[in-house]
Amino acid sequence: MIPLFDLTRQYLKLRGEILNAIDKVISSGRVILGENVRKFEEELAEYLGVKCAVGVSNGTDALILAMKALNIKYGDVVITTPYTFIASASAASWLGGFPAFVDVEEESMNMNLDNLITLLNGTEGGLNPERVKAIVFVHLFGRSLDLDRIKEIRDRYNIPIVEDVAQALGAEWKKRDGSVVKAGSVSDIATFSFFPTKNLGTYGDGGAVATNSDELCEILKMLRVHGSKKKYKHELLGKNARLDEIHAAVLRIKLKYIDQWNDRRIEIAKLYGKLFEEMDLVEFLDYPKPVEGFKGHVFHQFVVKFKKPEYREKVIEKFKERGIGFAIYYPKPLHLQPAFEYLGFSKGDFPVAERLSKTTLALPIFPELRDDEVEIVALTIKNALEV
Ligand SMILES: Cc1ncc(COP(=O)(O)O)c(C=O)c1O
Repeated sequence: MIPLFDLTRQYLKLRGEILNAIDKVISSGRVILGENVRKFEEELAEYLGVKCAVGVSNGTDALILAMKALNIKYGDVVITTPYTFIASASAASWLGGFPAFVDVEEESMNMNLDNLITLLNGTEGGLNPERVKAIVFVHLFGRSLDLDRIKEIRDRYNIPIVEDVAQALGAEWKKRDGSVVKAGSVSDIATFSFFPTKNLGTYGDGGAVATNSDELCEILKMLRVHGSKKKYKHELLGKNARLDEIHAAVLRIKLKYIDQWNDRRIEIAKLYGKLFEEMDLVEFLDYPKPVEGFKGHVFHQFVVKFKKPEYREKVIEKFKERGIGFAIYYPKPLHLQPAFEYLGFSKGDFPVAERLSKTTLALPIFPELRDDEVEIVALTIKNALEV
């Protein structure tokens, strides 16, 4: 059995430290918005190189709060991609906004920025660019978008941008001036998820938002406690979206290891690549490659793309037979989801996302995965395809 992800291997290494931290929280009697949340926020902000981070209940609430802080309301259009987790788009809908989609690039699987610019220039029918009130850029599977370019788009069109960093904590971008910055540091608001399987995950739900704006920081802090600064005085309509002390205590421990864990993910990705080349699997599949010189991809998922859907089916069958974990991210693009039927999209609207949904497969990857297990996964693919 080789799992897609295993929470317990990491826990065995950190058990003493984690149990001790949880015990301290409970023994202190302060389990909501105490010292751990405050310190975690400081440590996360420092790690990201931003002014402010605010712990929240999960990555979905992080997006909803970000949308609310950016004043998204009924009728506003928020652009994202159709090839991501639903929360990147549904957060806008929760506030009455309308998600609009820009297809992804075949290779990076991130938003196609040329297509986005065409849309914003209003040269393609169907969307009034004036109604676009935010753009959500998703660093999908751990791969950073071009942060220089997304910042330029933000400034040129004067549309607030959100980075959805749920899958990419620790990912980096080397800017044109040569400096290396973190994903989540260039947008108006960045959002994070600490769901257990994420590169930085807790033992339950957790999330955060980050910003360089003092004003947005204050609003986000209010929004997570029903819009109040002072108890029972509600200046804004917010919700209960707090990060728990216990999760913050766990995350403070784990944040210390994030770079080391991301390095191991990159090493595993390199090993997969080497094995695929050696086994002549490249005739059958494309695979993501690490970025040279900086952590441009932190491999939250290692997602390969088969050249034909039949290849994927064969591999899945063999994985099931041999007990190898896998997942399809994402089997149905967002524009074809029943929940978004009211938006009026149809099959064929976003061909790259639709093709990827039929050909991609996520293979096991997590820092504690062993080299011999990676070899078994690669060999199983080879066997399945009878190379
Ligand atoms: C890209 C992306 N955005 C948002 C979320 C939502 O995060 P959460 O599950 O913590 O609500 C996820 C989590 O799966 C995600 O992958």
